[in-house]
Amino acid sequence: MIAIRNESELDLIRKSGEILKECFLEIEKALRPGVKTEELDRITEEHIHSRGAIPAFKGYQGYPANICASINEQVVHGIPGPRELEEGDIVGIDIGVLREEYFADASRTYEVGEVDEAARRLVETTKEALELAIDRVRPGNHLSDISNVIQTHAEGAGYQVVRTLVGHGIGRRMHEEPQIPNFGPPGAGPILKPGMVFAIEPMINAGTLDVLTLKDNWTFVTVDGELSAHFEDTVAVTDGDPLILTR
Ligand code: MF3
Ligand code: CO
Repeated sequence: MIAIRNESELDLIRKSGEILKECFLEIEKALRPGVKTEELDRITEEHIHSRGAIPAFKGYQGYPANICASINEQVVHGIPGPRELEEGDIVGIDIGVLREEYFADASRTYEVGEVDEAARRLVETTKEALELAIDRVRPGNHLSDISNVIQTHAEGAGYQVVRTLVGHGIGRRMHEEPQIPNFGPPGAGPILKPGMVFAIEPMINAGTLDVLTLKDNWTFVTVDGELSAHFEDTVAVTDGDPLILTR
């Protein structure tokens, strides 16, 4: 069952999403070569608490931090720590906010200082894939239309999409039905209806699609060590245009 949210529920998710968006603005102020990812974690925690909300990731299945910070070949779920970001790195920052029982979830991949052309093109393509996917969040479309456009865009640029991690419904829990793969045929799966809310999150690899987890049991990395990028927004189906709740 995919939940259908009413206007006031969407409003609550949007309020969580606004706090989340502010976190990205705070992170952007601090992001520079030399900054430790644990510093970005602290900034986010402080901001979320200052707004009377709760960092949704902390303690989620034992996750030890407020954000995920995934550098270069790290795909998602990198644990913040004393590592300093370096010029030329790309870093995926993933944040979840819980406020008044409703969750929002979003991620941005940032370039640290000047990055090389290969990194820039991967980040750009991943961002574009999310934009195209969001544009499919319309009543009457099929769920897999979202998946298909991400795969088509990524593979058209010569990249591969991660298969073992997916987007998801979101609302009163961080992960709800349905799962939203970043690949698949068009025209399959449930038909989208107003009030459905999705966290859409393309994870795109420059090399092979295969990933593995590090010994910390959280951090996913590409098997071949090539770069990976991740963008995510929480988006509602309306009667008309997609409603992005995390911007
Ligand atoms: N945005 C991630 C997701 O959708 C959440 C990170 S998992 C956590 O799965 F454990 F860090 F919370
Ligand atoms: Co998510």
